[in-house]
Amino acid sequence: MTSPVRLALLGCGTVGSEVVRLLHEQSADLAARIGAPLEIAGIAVRRLGRDRGDLPVDEALFTTDPLGLIKRDDVDVVIEVVGGIEPARGWLVEALRAGKSVVTANKALLAEDGPALHDAAAEGGADLYYEASVAGAIPLLRPLRDSLHGDRVNRVTGIVNGTTNFILSAMDATGAGFAEALEEATELGYAEADPTADVEGFDAAAKAAILASLAFHTRVTAADVHREGITEVTAADVASAKAMGCTIKLLCIAARGRDAAGRETVSVRVHPAMIPLTHPLASVGDAFNAVFVEAEAAGQLMFYGRGAGGAPTASAVLGDVVAVARNRLAGVRAPSESAYADLAVRPMGEALTRYHISLDVADRPGVLAAVAGVFARHDVSIATVRQGSADGPAGSGDAELVIVTHVAPDAALAATVEELRGLDIVRSVASVLRVEGGA
Ligand code: NDP
Ligand code: HSE
Repeated sequence: MTSPVRLALLGCGTVGSEVVRLLHEQSADLAARIGAPLEIAGIAVRRLGRDRGDLPVDEALFTTDPLGLIKRDDVDVVIEVVGGIEPARGWLVEALRAGKSVVTANKALLAEDGPALHDAAAEGGADLYYEASVAGAIPLLRPLRDSLHGDRVNRVTGIVNGTTNFILSAMDATGAGFAEALEEATELGYAEADPTADVEGFDAAAKAAILASLAFHTRVTAADVHREGITEVTAADVASAKAMGCTIKLLCIAARGRDAAGRETVSVRVHPAMIPLTHPLASVGDAFNAVFVEAEAAGQLMFYGRGAGGAPTASAVLGDVVAVARNRLAGVRAPSESAYADLAVRPMGEALTRYHISLDVADRPGVLAAVAGVFARHDVSIATVRQGSADGPAGSGDAELVIVTHVAPDAALAATVEELRGLDIVRSVASVLRVEGGA
């Protein structure tokens, strides 16, 4: 057996402690797979005195000096499971420039400033792996980065946030409102004390940026991603979706397109959308994640599993550790970042979407024609119209109109809704949702 590959572990919380456990429990298998044992050189944490239960590790390995640990000569690979932008960015740039391979689960940093890490990796001739940063345990980035490199990916549609999927699934199953479902998610430990990053879509947007960068060989950052969360989704929206044979999911969508000049572009967005119950993503319930990839030759591919949690995420981290350790022993590097396509990121207004709009309108002659006229003025084609009774008191002369459009630029659809809101005959716009997946 050759000499050990020495690891610096930055962070020993939910994910880091499971990394330690797996390294311990599977040490013989990991050594056999790599051709050398893995050894923890040190573990950087914030609080030395914290109770870490029965973690199978020597106390003397803990330090509060991450940078000092990274710089040690006997450290080959740095595993970062701390999170956040700084100081993590500084640590990882330092490690990569020094030729130490990095494995990280830090989606926020990769989405905010992935290029800085990739540039540092190229400078230092080191590997940068981050499978755990998107959809936890699900092998997804490696398939996009390696297996599909002979193909052309056209679209990636995913449920990549477990907390919001739990909340929307609960709303769908019980008819509960958002606040009630969030409370349940918090009680069960799915939602964090501050759920903002999840419910406002920041977490999913970071993952969308990472997926789009890999799928389209283009640098996409969180700032390029159109983001809407689920806080405005109501029980009435969920009921409307059900009436259409649909369910509501927080989707991340990254798709190729073309601009007015015919140049290829990419649009990347995160928002709630109605999808038909027949869509493969509709049955993804609870806190599970799934990503649906459409590629030119491969066709449709679906990746499904646990997107969070200590052990599932540690599984993805360990897979990366084995890969970088093997590369190190073989004296090779993983292929560097592929961003050659450099596609322009299309603004949300130009993304092609469909809307489901539910209106309470006056029930009298000419109303439907007036409403249809607004769609026509914005060059938006109506796919279906359904009229039902509105919630107003009997004899109030109101009706409910449910309109589903054909695909149109999002800006035209948004302008249509804005004009409808201003019409006297429209008592209220009860619900506006985007529709995806052929509903
Ligand atoms: P935790 O908050 O549970 O753990 C963070 C760890 O980092 C703790 O051990 C903490 O030390 C340590 N730490 C914090 N600040 C510093 C600092 N300045 N210097 C040294 N150590 C520090 O986070 P998670 O394990 O949940 O997440 C880690 C990463 O993994 C994040 O990037 C997250 O986005 C990502 N991730 C997490 C998933 C999950 O399910 N939890 C799923 C997928 C990705 P101490 O123990 O002393 O407090
Ligand atoms: N907060 C994330 C989720 C887990 O709910 O999916 C880590 O990505």
